[in-house]
Amino acid sequence: LASIDVDLSPIQPGQAIKASFRGKPLFVRRLMPAEIEAANKVPVSELRDPQSLADRTKPGNAEWLITLGVCTHLGCVPLGAGEGENRGDFGGYFCPCHGSHYDTAARIRKGPAPKNLEVPEYAFKSPTSVTIG
Ligand code: FES
Repeated sequence: LASIDVDLSPIQPGQAIKASFRGKPLFVRRLMPAEIEAANKVPVSELRDPQSLADRTKPGNAEWLITLGVCTHLGCVPLGAGEGENRGDFGGYFCPCHGSHYDTAARIRKGPAPKNLEVPEYAFKSPTSVTIG
């Protein structure tokens, strides 16, 4: 299966972009320090799908949150990766289909989705470039 490279250099803190990976939407988000802090403040044991931000990012690169843009409820594309889009009650992503709210680590916090947004396999090629898949 094909891998893709994503250039991180144009992505500003607080910004997220959409790409496409194996026919699915991919979200690449550069977290601001306050968003990292918000994600780290939540006790993992209270989460529906218990994962820390560290579980979902690479060591030393907690600011780069890379997930599929596919709601784990019924597969809609959540909002939050585009300019001015609704990021939901927890500041991450919001799925308008049935109201699932994801936090700044793209973890499900409210609504019907059972799981966090999926983190695909990826690796940093350089500080400003990742290979997905
Ligand atoms: Fe996202 Fe149902 S598909 S909430």
